Amino acid sequence: MGERTVEYEAEGHIAVVRLNRPDRLNALNRQLQDELGQAFAAAEAARDVRVLILTGAGRAFSVGADIEELETTAEGAARQLQASLACLSSPERLRKPVIAAVNGYALGGGFELALACDIVVASDRAVFSVPEPTLGVVPGLAMQRLPRLVGVMRAREILLTARRLSAQEAREYGLVSRVAPHDDLMEQARSVAMGMTELAPLALELLKATINRNLLSSDLVFAERANAWLFTTRDAREGIRAFREKRKPNFSG
Ligand code: COA
Repeated sequence: MGERTVEYEAEGHIAVVRLNRPDRLNALNRQLQDELGQAFAAAEAARDVRVLILTGAGRAFSVGADIEELETTAEGAARQLQASLACLSSPERLRKPVIAAVNGYALGGGFELALACDIVVASDRAVFSVPEPTLGVVPGLAMQRLPRLVGVMRAREILLTARRLSAQEAREYGLVSRVAPHDDLMEQARSVAMGMTELAPLALELLKATINRNLLSSDLVFAERANAWLFTTRDAREGIRAFREKRKPNFSG
């Protein structure tokens, strides 16, 4: 297993969960997904903890799926996508609110993980994008959630161009509620969290559940199956191989 890829520390009513695979820009490999689940479970179980802050070590929040581990067989891709969708959407299933403190790149699954949090605070160095189509696949969660979060036309533009958004643009789109100077990010996230710790925990739990119930009724099974199929196509194999070989992919459709 080696070193831990997720750090957990609780102090008072606030737990900080830090993705910690900085040399891989916090790419979400299996170990990290497992350990993130464990950290969230610890925070849910800790009586004192009322609010979580999720952030990343180094220059990325997370660059999404670990491309080295991606499987392109039908069975392998289906299994992997199911696990990864469950992980990426896991902040939505916690009773306690989660603040994403986005410290750098939030790409693909990293962007989706932030979208699944209740409040997003970003460093002025944060970069958001869903580059999956550059690999020949689709961002399963973002394509479901973004249209409701930012409106259909903006979501189309973000998804169909796979372009990058700066922290400021993400704020203008309503994806981020505050942009902090990079070095003040955690302080600002903590200050938002501190304010929330003074509110009634059960009231926050009910608010979160109600907001998500209305927002998240979309069916993730379709996205998961469609994407599992995409992973087996020649273009996805080409996109993934091209990333590993550090060259531009040549897609044939
Ligand atoms: N999975 C696995 N490894 C990844 C990765 C990912 N998603 N993203 C980056 N890495 C690795 C790089 O291969 C590199 O490894 P190396 O040092 O052994 O060469 C290391 O992390 C640092 O990344 P690098 O590309 O050198 O940094 P950069 O500053 O030049 O570029 C990015 C940063 C984020 C723009 C670039 O890494 C990138 O485009 N990553 C892919 C993101 C992506 O497509 N995510 C969606 C996955 S479905």
